[in-house]
Amino acid sequence: MTELIYLTDSYKKTHTTTVVSCERKGQQWELVLASTIFYPEGGGQPSDKGIVTTSSGKAHVKHVRLAGDIVVHECAIEGSIVAGEEARCDIDWDIRYQNMRIHTAGHIVHEAVKRVAPQLVALKGEHGTHPYIEYIGSVPIDKTYAIEKESNVIVDADVAVRTEFVSLEQLMARASWVPAHLPKNKPLRILTIGDNDPIPDGGTQVKTTKETGNITITAIENADDHVRICYRVESARAVLPQISEPEAIPAPELTRMLMEVESSAKEIIASSTKSADALRLELLGNKSNFAQITKNIKYVPVAYRQEIGKVINFVKEHIEEALSERAPLQDNATGAAEKFMDVTMPGIRPPEGHLHIVTQAIMEITRIFEKIGFTRVRHPEVDWDWYPFESLNMPPTHPARDEWETFFLEYPGKPTGTNPRKQKIVLTPHTSNGQVREMEKGRLPIRMINIAKCYRRQIDVSHTPMFHQFEGLYIDRNVSIGHLKGVFDYFVKQFFGANRTTRLRPFHFQFTEPSFEVDINCGICLGSGKLPDGTSCKLCKAGWLELGGAGMVHPVVLRNGGVDPDVYSGFAFGWGIERTSMMKSGTKLDDIRLLYSNDIRFLEQF
Ligand code: DAH
Repeated sequence: MTELIYLTDSYKKTHTTTVVSCERKGQQWELVLASTIFYPEGGGQPSDKGIVTTSSGKAHVKHVRLAGDIVVHECAIEGSIVAGEEARCDIDWDIRYQNMRIHTAGHIVHEAVKRVAPQLVALKGEHGTHPYIEYIGSVPIDKTYAIEKESNVIVDADVAVRTEFVSLEQLMARASWVPAHLPKNKPLRILTIGDNDPIPDGGTQVKTTKETGNITITAIENADDHVRICYRVESARAVLPQISEPEAIPAPELTRMLMEVESSAKEIIASSTKSADALRLELLGNKSNFAQITKNIKYVPVAYRQEIGKVINFVKEHIEEALSERAPLQDNATGAAEKFMDVTMPGIRPPEGHLHIVTQAIMEITRIFEKIGFTRVRHPEVDWDWYPFESLNMPPTHPARDEWETFFLEYPGKPTGTNPRKQKIVLTPHTSNGQVREMEKGRLPIRMINIAKCYRRQIDVSHTPMFHQFEGLYIDRNVSIGHLKGVFDYFVKQFFGANRTTRLRPFHFQFTEPSFEVDINCGICLGSGKLPDGTSCKLCKAGWLELGGAGMVHPVVLRNGGVDPDVYSGFAFGWGIERTSMMKSGTKLDDIRLLYSNDIRFLEQF
């Protein structure tokens, strides 16, 4: 029986023990030790990797499994390893620590799920590269945010994660949930997060919830009567201080060394009379200090290597710059070099740009909807008029079409054939053209967010002929107005702030039934319509501002997309990006055309 050291100390990175056996099995070797810190794959957690060294050989451990009560280290061997030898184990701590964080995060998400969707029955967890927890039951996807929020409440509370060994009777009496099969080959252990109910667990866990870092719920996947709640933890870098090896070179230390190399190189360049080529060899060649220090990058914790790589490149560039600036001055040979090589002179900063305010809003809106399982899709901005009109229940002569002052395109060879859906081409006047196009893909459920340019024959202080809309479409079984309202409330809280909410006003669109205009409570008077001094709010109409249109997808539209309205229902909404984004910044533009005038003085403000 292998003694499982990781069960009692999940932070132990090195360990000395004795080799019990080492045998070749096909292409690889199987190493058994008296005790081990290597975690064997199980309970949804991937196995550890690492190295075992003895006086006569080295084993590169690729995978670890539990066979009965023996831990088998599957490895490749350099030299030889024989029974009875003393062996030093080093696990790959970056991998292990990441696995620990993901595993503990799984338990935290489970606690959050118990609060948000107590009806679910836990089945199993997977804590590897695509972590999730699976339950019997279903959860509407609009619960994503609530589960994520509850999870991060537990993370931020930084509560202790405790484990203790128990007998079977104790486990049955104390655990709130027991898996279908309890392991027979391992000591029984329970895990408690803060003062939640204990849960059986044999994995490696971090000590406090904060170590997992921020948790994101990446998807809620309902299938049949099972649901998977998928999650991830923020990259290890954010919580890196715990994962640097004692013998590793800390990244700041290497950065400092590189900065010293740069400044001494600049001094040498300024004072030396050698040629630029000779100096380049001395300062950047294979034997240079720079090259020697650069080699140490492999001792920097993995998560910092990319950053250090950048510092190395910068230092090299700066030394090259200093060399190239010097060359012509040398030719003058008048001693002017000293005059111009003042390395303490401040550098010239190139002007820094930023993304256009509309692009910023598009990115933020996309991110918010992605969090609750919507995918950003693209549909044509130049389209057959069937998609923005007829497919949406507006026949060719329908008066509702007038509301979309549409650009029709002339094109050679028109009209093509007799296909009634392919007669006229338009610059799409709204993103709703993506609705039936998305349904035509034939994949249900649909959770799309279609962001595109729209065009209408309108140009004045409050209209530009080109503008942007974002169109949401959610189609699944049993989608209700409750989901629609929940998603809007989630969106406005994320985009505008936690104290904002929405209301629905009855309206009419041909393609939805019922239809609504969606309003958001005013950010200044928060819906009261009155300012603290009793005067009425100047920003809004009686406490509310109009966001855009929405509604439950009309059965005719579903049918046009090949979706059976007796089985599926859905909601849709289409709002202007410019309008939504201006409402957020509280900007009232005298002339909306400024947005597309390319005047840097205007754009710089956002
Ligand atoms: N496409 C509409 C417009 O441009 C807005 C809209 C209203 C979109 C209701 C929708 C909806 O998806 O359900 O005015």
